[in-house]
Amino acid sequence: MAVGVFDSGLGGLTVLDAVTRKMPEQAFVYLGDNAHAPYGVRTSEDIFQLTCAATERLWQEGCDLVILACNTASAAALKRMQETWVPKDKRVLGVFVPLIEALTERQWGDNSPPREVAVKHVALFATPATVASRAFQRELAYRAIGVDVEAQPCGGLVDAIEQGDEILAEALVRSHVEALQRRMPKPEAAILGCTHYPLLEKAFSDALGPDVAVYSQANLVAESLSDYLTRRPEFRGAGTVSKFLTTGNPARVSDKATQFLRRKITFEAA
Ligand code: DGL
Repeated sequence: MAVGVFDSGLGGLTVLDAVTRKMPEQAFVYLGDNAHAPYGVRTSEDIFQLTCAATERLWQEGCDLVILACNTASAAALKRMQETWVPKDKRVLGVFVPLIEALTERQWGDNSPPREVAVKHVALFATPATVASRAFQRELAYRAIGVDVEAQPCGGLVDAIEQGDEILAEALVRSHVEALQRRMPKPEAAILGCTHYPLLEKAFSDALGPDVAVYSQANLVAESLSDYLTRRPEFRGAGTVSKFLTTGNPARVSDKATQFLRRKITFEAA
């Protein structure tokens, strides 16, 4: 057994790296649904079905706890999965809440009413499906008042990353940042609301300039997962074998993962 980490493709590896650094003794099974990426242009129903199928595959690996290291799945499918589908002895958690808790300066599980926070103008960069779901704004409204969120759907960006086209990906980052700045010239904070985007964090920071604090999820999710497993050790699993599974072509996915993460990663067929 181990903890499962799921993404539509390569993006969740940014989260996997951070959780592995934080918990080196914990086994993780990563599953990338590269055959069906990108999710960000799919319907909610489609995202729900694909995310359930991937989660079941990770349960077969003995992962009773699965982290959706994918904002699109967290935004479009997680609530419905938790309310209607996940059995009592399993857990599925998303990546949205730790990020919003950091932005709104809250500790884990602080359910006090929404209050004023320091940041007032927030830029959200995410996939079209995440932006359309308005899940980020909904979660933020539970915790903070008076925060103006301008969301930029970053069409094409996940595709460029999955294709390994770094030049196109960087050009798309610049054009999406410019489009956002036309509507919100001076954001105080920018949220990279897709786990693929930290692979381009430097491009985002360069385009946004030094005055914008860039929040990305990997380390925040690692903190919150480690906290969760301390409180719920029964979801740690007993396994020690970590592996990488893909629904895509394992050789091709391994090459792209190695290129972006700049270390050797070997995927096997899911
Ligand atoms: N990494 C996924 C996310 O966080 C990418 C979604 C996609 O496949 O479009 O949203």
